[in-house]
Amino acid sequence: MSPEPLSAALEREHKIIDADIERFAADVSSGTIDSQGLHTTFNLLRRHIYVEEEFLFPPLREAGMIMPILVMNREHGEIWNLLDAIEEQAISNAEPSGIVESCQSLLELLDRHNAKEEPIVYPEVDATLSATLAEELSKFLNIGAMPENWVCEVARPIRH
Ligand SMILES: [Fe+2]
Ligand SMILES: [Fe+2]
Repeated sequence: MSPEPLSAALEREHKIIDADIERFAADVSSGTIDSQGLHTTFNLLRRHIYVEEEFLFPPLREAGMIMPILVMNREHGEIWNLLDAIEEQAISNAEPSGIVESCQSLLELLDRHNAKEEPIVYPEVDATLSATLAEELSKFLNIGAMPENWVCEVARPIRH
């Protein structure tokens, strides 16, 4: 049996993350703000973006996929900033309706992002990455940790 393609594991993460955010928002609506659970979910999403930007996108860019990667990185930046903003809201006793609204914006961003990433970028990931790297990254998705303080490319502070 051939191993599961890396794209399948990545798409599964998209679904898990979406479901977790939806559950968090539903809990907020009914009066519970689980900021610890939110942090766990958001760190999964941050690590997902880390894997894409550090390991998946560079070989695709080298293979000539320029525009789609540019768009993915820009959207990662928007998503990243919104994660920080929602965490801030969750720990600072913001109005629940405001938190739910931010979560809806995040889910819409993710939906638009994944709707392009899954059909356009991920097939190229499966076609371009070596079997060894794909296998290593599959393992990383199970147990790996993102370096502390890593920030996605577009959300990094400008260095002077
Ligand atoms: Fe993704
Ligand atoms: Fe992405």
